[in-house]
Amino acid sequence: MPDGQPAFSAAANQLSTVRDFLRFALSSFRAANVVHGHGTSSALDEAAFLILETLNLPVDDINPWLDARLLDGERIALADIIRRRIETRMPAAYLVQRAYIHGIPFHVDERVIVPRSYLGELMFAGIFGGEDTPLITDPASVESVLDLCTGSGCLAIIAAGLFPAAEIDAADLSEDALAVADINVRMHGLSDRINLMHGDLFAPLEERSYDLIICNPPYVAAAEVEAFPPEHGHEPVMAHLGGEDGLAIVRRILDQAADHLNPGGGLLCEVGTGRERLVDDYPHLDFLWLDTEESEGEVFWLTREALV
Ligand SMILES: C[S@@+](CC[C@H](N)C(=O)[O-])C[C@H]1O[C@@H](n2cnc3c(N)ncnc32)[C@H](O)[C@@H]1O
Repeated sequence: MPDGQPAFSAAANQLSTVRDFLRFALSSFRAANVVHGHGTSSALDEAAFLILETLNLPVDDINPWLDARLLDGERIALADIIRRRIETRMPAAYLVQRAYIHGIPFHVDERVIVPRSYLGELMFAGIFGGEDTPLITDPASVESVLDLCTGSGCLAIIAAGLFPAAEIDAADLSEDALAVADINVRMHGLSDRINLMHGDLFAPLEERSYDLIICNPPYVAAAEVEAFPPEHGHEPVMAHLGGEDGLAIVRRILDQAADHLNPGGGLLCEVGTGRERLVDDYPHLDFLWLDTEESEGEVFWLTREALV
């Protein structure tokens, strides 16, 4: 397997098509044991993403391009980015400074976690305004949304699309994250609908209340954060660390959310693997647990009425 820049440059000279580079990237990733899961679920998916994004092609399907021959400059660029993925162990999304949820592009860099929340998938799966008993029957009636722990602003931006009448507040404790969110809000032309707010959880909102709160908080236990693979080490620790057992911030959210929800409103929150502990700690709360294609019971929905 190639080792270092000269070897990767030599490889670039021997490969000619997109298919060649896909195979080469996959072999190289597997040999280097790189870890996936930052917006892609396998070495193959991440290789395809990295190649398509570097070639400025749509990232949804590599198949139409597999037999395309590459220009010299493209081959050099691909060999270089595959090498950097392995040498730096930086997730592909950071290398190309882009991530997608449901085809929606977001700028990302090391100031924010790479967007991959299950909430993104759920929000497009009909829970808001879908036909099969949605949590919110009429999205057009939602006037206010809070995206707590907004990071790159990805969920706030999705919410702006799903709730056309809503004004959206998006809050985070990290000024760095808010700077990235600002890039994304401007990129999507939503500066007039999304207000970025800095502070600890609900503190910057003062007395404000909302029809809907969405939140993907930090929820990883300290010991798990300690054991993270190098890829996760490129992400801000505060985006993951949820205290000793991972649920310190989730508990604070549960304790305060009702004060910031309008009658009939609800909280949609991702909590990782903390379901059993939350059910034990809050026996009086009637959590509705939601599944996605890749997760089981890692997201709950609670109405304001259930919370109080
Ligand atoms: C898991 S990330 C989620 C980011 C984004 N919503 C997403 O889904 O990609 C958690 C975010 O919470 C922020 N955060 C951590 N502690 C916080 C706190 N006490 N108050 C507000 N935000 C906090 C972090 O800066 C980080 O951006």
